[in-house]
Amino acid sequence: MKKIVTVLAAAAILSGGTAIAQDYKNQIKARQGTMWVIALNLGTLGAMAKGEAEYDAEAATAAAESIHGASMIHLSTLFPEGSDAGMNDASRAKEEIWANFADFEAKWGQLGAAAEKAAAEAGNGKDALGPLMGGLGGSCKACHDDYRVSPS
Ligand code: HEC
Repeated sequence: MKKIVTVLAAAAILSGGTAIAQDYKNQIKARQGTMWVIALNLGTLGAMAKGEAEYDAEAATAAAESIHGASMIHLSTLFPEGSDAGMNDASRAKEEIWANFADFEAKWGQLGAAAEKAAAEAGNGKDALGPLMGGLGGSCKACHDDYRVSPS
């Protein structure tokens, strides 16, 4: 017990009260997981749009609804300041996000709007999917171009 107290006291001294570094591992995992949920479902829609998978109205609607659901997660909890790629090897988030957080959230909102439309219309037949994919894909690109580090 005495040893634990000593270790805690030493940790408190070393951290200087506030300066302890945070790794934001969970936030980075959670936001990348959110993105992968979106990507997986976009892949489902893309395969049907291209005829690589048979069109299925119910599955298409489910995929679009899943993207819409994921888009309702608030970015403020997933992207705490200091969790950028410069500070965390596991991340590709650009530091510019935090200087432009309102724009970052607006771009997330564009994805949300495209996903809401897709959820309403993906069940209308295979030919409906192309334009919906365009709206969804454009919203990914708009944000990634500005706020995600390109692979080197
Ligand atoms: C509002 C901004 C924004 C939108 C919209 C957005 N993304 Fe992302 N995405 C990011 C950021 C930032 C990262 C990097 C996160 C990290 O590594 O910490 C990322 C990472 C990812 C990743 C993780 C793997 C990688 O390449 O870094 C995938 C997959 C992904 N996005 C897919 C998508 C798809 C598909 C869409 C559109 C349907 C989309 N994203 C829309 C900002 C966005």
